[in-house]
Order: sequence, then structure tokens, then C-alpha cells
Amino acid sequence: MSAGSAVSQRKKVGVLVSGRGSNLQALLDACADPTFPAEIALVISNVPGVLALERAQKAGVATAVIPHRDYPSREAFDAAMDLVLRAAGIDIVCLAGFMRLLSSEFVAGWQGAMLNIHPSLLPSFKGLHTHRQALEAGVKLHGCTIHLVTPDLDDGPILVQAAVPVQDDDDEDSLAARVLEQEHRAYPLALRLLAEGRVTVDGNRTLIRR
Ligand code: GAR
Repeated sequence: MSAGSAVSQRKKVGVLVSGRGSNLQALLDACADPTFPAEIALVISNVPGVLALERAQKAGVATAVIPHRDYPSREAFDAAMDLVLRAAGIDIVCLAGFMRLLSSEFVAGWQGAMLNIHPSLLPSFKGLHTHRQALEAGVKLHGCTIHLVTPDLDDGPILVQAAVPVQDDDDEDSLAARVLEQEHRAYPLALRLLAEGRVTVDGNRTLIRR
């Protein structure tokens, strides 16, 4: 196989962001390797001026700002994002700190092709403030999850999880930092598995071809 054909087979990824974009950066870094099976083709933010947009621009990736406040409904906002993603020929959507709920229509349109990262070992600690939730629950292991997106919040077949210990002197910040380090390793791995077509879904489970 020539280098050219390897590149042309890379899956085109659209990343949805709302803020800092450190997970976006991890994906950009992974995709900078021409042998990685995916490339970031577009970054969409629902919030103008965020650091994630700067990271994309620095990497030479196209960006779009679609402020959710400009749309009369969740469905109309999602439809605007969908249009831009389809026009860019996107194969896979990655949610990376995208802090909006998605409509069931949008989710259905990207079934099996949309990943989310969540900072807990799902199904524990869905929603916000996951590190606080973990400390309050007194768990000794915490972590992150990358899963296929289904209409329910922080739900869907899991591709990759990474666990970290909770230490006695942890506060939310120290625990978040330990989890984030693992997020940056786990998300590129999950994207690789999906982009290489190694994932099949069986009910709640994914089966990964090794
Ligand atoms: C990450 O910790 C991500 O797991 C979390 O937001 C942070 C975004 O950071 N996502 C969620 O809580 C979604 N339910 P980043 O912008 O630096 O990637």
C-alpha cells in the first residue's frame, strides 16, 4: 500500500467542543501521525472565543462557531451542526467537553459513529461534578470512559475506560488532574478502534476485534 492510499483512507473526524479543549489537543496530536487511521477535519464550538478553537486553528484545522443561543430550539441548533458536519464529509463525531445535550434526531443520525468522553467510570457518576461525586461516594477507584453516544445522557456502549486510584488527600482538582491525564491517553485509543472498524455493538456491550 502506498503512503498516499493510507492517507486517503483516514476517517474524517468532526470534534464538538465548548471550552478548554485539552481532549481535542490529545486527538489533534494523535492525528498528527500520518499512520493514525483518522484525521480531524473540523472543530465546531457552541461557544465563541474558547481555547479549543485556538488549538484547532494552530493545528490548521477548519473551525466553525455555532452559538446555540442563536437557535430557537435544541433541534434547530443540532440541525445546523449536522448540516456543517455533513457538508465537510465527516465520518465520525467526537464530543470533547461539549456541554450540550443532543436531540434524539441528531444522535440517531450519527448512531455508531459518535463518541463521547466522560470523566467517570460509567455507569457511575453521570452528569456534572463527577470528581466531587466520586469523593462524596468514597470510591477508591475513579476514571474516565469513552462510549458510543445514545439518546440518554452519558450512556451507551463503552469502548475504553481508564481507572486511577483515589488518594486520601485528594480534592476535586487533584483527582480531576489525575483523571484528565488518562483521558488524553484513552480518547485517541478509542478513536483508533472505531476508525479502524474494529468495534461491533452487542446490546450494551462493544466487542473489540484485537
Ligand atoms: C473533560 O474532563 C471531559 O471528560 C469532560 O469535560 C472536560 C473537558 O475538558 N466532559 C464532560 O463532563 C461531558 N459529560 P477539555 O475541554 O479540556 O477536553
